[in-house]
Order: sequence, then structure tokens, then C-alpha cells
Amino acid sequence: MNRPLNVVILAAGKGTRMHSDLPKVLHPLAGRPLIEHVIAAADRLVPECICVVYGHGGDVLPQVVGRDDLVWVMQEPQLGTGHAVQQALPRLDPEAVTLILYGDVPLIQPETLQELVLLAREDALALLTISLANPSGYGRIVRNAQGGVERIVEHKDATPEELAIHEVNTGIMAVPAKRLSAWLARLSNDNAQGEYYLTDIIAMAAAERVRVLPCHPGAMWEVLGVNSRAQLAELERTHQHNLAEALLHQGVTLIDPKRIDIRGELACGRDVLIDVNCVFEGRVALADGVKIGANCVLRNVEVAAGAEILPFSHLDGAKIGAGSRVGPYSRIRPGTELAAETHIGNFVEIKNSQVGFNSKINHLSYVGDATVGSMVNIGAGTITANYDGANKHHTDIEDNASIGSNCVLVAPVRIGAAATIGAGSVISKSAPAGELTVARAKAVSIAGWKRPVKKR
Ligand code: UD1
Ligand code: CA
Repeated sequence: MNRPLNVVILAAGKGTRMHSDLPKVLHPLAGRPLIEHVIAAADRLVPECICVVYGHGGDVLPQVVGRDDLVWVMQEPQLGTGHAVQQALPRLDPEAVTLILYGDVPLIQPETLQELVLLAREDALALLTISLANPSGYGRIVRNAQGGVERIVEHKDATPEELAIHEVNTGIMAVPAKRLSAWLARLSNDNAQGEYYLTDIIAMAAAERVRVLPCHPGAMWEVLGVNSRAQLAELERTHQHNLAEALLHQGVTLIDPKRIDIRGELACGRDVLIDVNCVFEGRVALADGVKIGANCVLRNVEVAAGAEILPFSHLDGAKIGAGSRVGPYSRIRPGTELAAETHIGNFVEIKNSQVGFNSKINHLSYVGDATVGSMVNIGAGTITANYDGANKHHTDIEDNASIGSNCVLVAPVRIGAAATIGAGSVISKSAPAGELTVARAKAVSIAGWKRPVKKR
């Protein structure tokens, strides 16, 4: 039988080296605060409780994360990792195994944590360790003659022999809660940093013949922490590399797996192709055979099968119909739904509009708050004037309508089915179906007119 699980996430540290007003654990990795990655990993273990110890930045942290189902515990002042866990103790189930995570170690994998948790029991604690070529700064794992873990010595307290040890403490451990409270109560801050070190519980456990079971992460990046912007940037690339690898593995073509950024969830069908420098934010779904050109940004977008997004397009909060062609240089804004086989061209902006089957808006247009039927053609430079300075109004363009170039459709207005609007028209009242409507000044030619000549 598995014991109940409690998770404690330590996130009270200052993050001085970020040189930022934002609490460190709120800095984004893949578009999401660091701590949310840790919470997501913890969620996967389905613990009875997740307790976050926070301090620096005050209540900004619980507010931004916005999870009322977590237990938020303030640590003030911050007297060390042992002191931090102590603040959480009253909120933990004494019968549970307590898993300790760091809010600034974002890429820890649930599988690794599961293994660690399974090792912990009443008479055993599990410790995640790793051997590093350069162990500088980390707590070192000191083992006895039999190879058992005896204690952890912090870098600043270590002797030269201890500094030569390459196996380090990742900080992540799973401990039986009952023992934990007894050990924490006995911590002292008599050390180089004057802090209550959580790591001192290891020696206490060993002295009480509680087994300390070391366990290792599947990959080094899982246990890398963020202390500086440089480390954050490095971890971002690692994470993006992992996401790109997963897409390749699944059958997506990435022209350059090093030049893609996924800041959310990207779901891809079969034979999807993504060219370089694309950014995906929020929830993006690309169906079978979709092609995304270079330098596109897609945010909360669904692209149906066979559609193609050409380079330099920005799509946000939209649905793109099957077989459609959007871009290059299109801007598709929230509330837009393009039906199948639409063609949206360069320098076209569409906002909060439905565009029907096989309709074309190919050049330099603005269509906002409009319903466009099927087989409609909107000429270059045409706009819907949807805003009167106070309110937004709707434009209806019915099936088969043809709007000439450089028209202004002054909303609210309706263009009837199969109506034709002459180029350069300003249409401020509805145009009847099937007829030509033209609203522009007549051309006048002045006979005998002479160009001015330059005075001498
Ligand atoms: C800690 C470990 C060290 C380990 C290293 C791994 C201790 C004493 N040392 O050292 O063995 O190799 O992590 O990165 O545990 N925090 C609080 N409250 C505090 C102090 C820290 O919440 O009072 C949080 C920090 O926000 C951070 C984590 O605990 O998320 C680790 O704190 P940090 O000061 O970075 O510990 P290290 O000195 O790096
Ligand atoms: Ca640290």
C-alpha cells in the first residue's frame, strides 16, 4: 500500500542574481512561471497536498499562480532550507511521505519523483543525487566505507577532501513526515552561513539507522536550478530542445529543431511541417498536412488539415479552415474563423470576423466585426469602418459578393449576395443583392487645361 504523499515546494529565496523586481520563481520558462512547471510535475503524482513556502515578493506569488487548492505558507525571515520546511510542517499529514522540491528547479520529471517517493518509507528516506564534473557550490554527499550515505556537507563548510567529492545533493528528497518533524526540531544554525540547513537531517537519519537511499535523475537538466538569467536562458534552450525532439519523434518536420519556441501546448497531426523561427503560444493545434512558414507567431490557434500559413504571419485566437492559405504578412486577430479554402493575403488584418468557404481577401485589407459569406472576393485596400469613435458596428457581406479595390464599408452595413461594389466606393448604406453599386465622384476631364510652368 502506498502512503499518502505531501509535497513541499521551497520558493522563498530572494533570487538576488536575477537582478529583478519579479520574484525568481515567477520568471517564465517556455512562457510559464518556473514554479508552475514544478507544480505541474507535483500534480502528476496526485499528492494529498502541495504546500508552497514563499517569502520574497510577498503575496504576488500566490496571486499570480492563482491556485487556491495549494497550501501557501509564508516564511519570513528566511533562515535556511530547514527552517523553510519547518514552516510547512503544521500543514502536513504526519503519516505521509513528504517530497521536497525547489521552486527554481523547473524541469524535474514526474517519473524521477515517482521513483524517489516509492523508495521512502518509515525507516528510509530517499535522496536525489547526481555526480557533476564541476560540483562547485553544491552540498557534497559524504559516504561511509560501505558506500552508504552518511551526511551532506555544504560547499562553504566542506574540507578540501570533501570538496573533491563529485556526487552532490540536488536538494530534492522524500522523507517520512513523522521523522522529519523530529529532525527539523533539532537543527542548529551553527555553520558557515548561519542557516538552518535541511541537509543536516541526513546525518541525523544515518545516526538513527534510518536508511538513506540515493536515487538519480534520468538526465542532468532535470535537476538544474535557475539562479541567474544566463541559467534561465540555458534551461529554456534545453527545454525547447526536448520539446522539439518529441515533435520530431512524433513525425513532425522541423526545418531546424533549434529554431522553434513552444510556450504552451502544440498538438500536431501527421505530416505537419514547421519552418524556422516560429513561436507557438497557448494552445495551438495543427491538423494533418499543415505547413507553417518561417517567422510566424501562432497563439491559441486551430489550423485545420492542409492549411498553409505563409511566412511572417501573426495569428491569435483564431480558427483556420482546411486547405486555407494565410499570409505572407497576415495578421489574424481573436474571434476570427476562416472556413475551408479561404485565401488571406499580405498585409491583411482580420479581427472578430467569420469568413466563408473559398472567400478571398488577398491584399492590404482590414476586416473587423464582419460576417463574410462564401465565394466572396474583397479587393486590395478595402476596409470595414467598424468603429464610429464610440461604438463598434457589424458588416455583413453575403455569398458571392465582389468588393472592388479601395472601398470603405461604413458599418453597420450589408452587402447583398452577388452584389458588386465599384472600386473606390464609400458604402454607408446597404447595397442590394446582384447589382452594381458605385459610390465615388465622377471623373471630370477639363479640356485645354495647362500645367503650370516654372517662373523664370
Ligand atoms: C541547497 C542545498 C545544497 C544543494 C543545493 C542544490 C541546503 C542547506 N543546501 O543549497 O545541498 O546542493 O541546494 O541546488 O539545503 N529557500 C527557501 N527558504 C530559505 C532558503 C532557501 O525557501 O530560507 C529555497 C530557495 O528559494 C531555493 C531552495 O530553497 O528554491 C534552495 O535554496 P538555496 O539558497 O538556493 O540553497 P543552496 O545554497 O543552493
Ligand atoms: Ca541554489
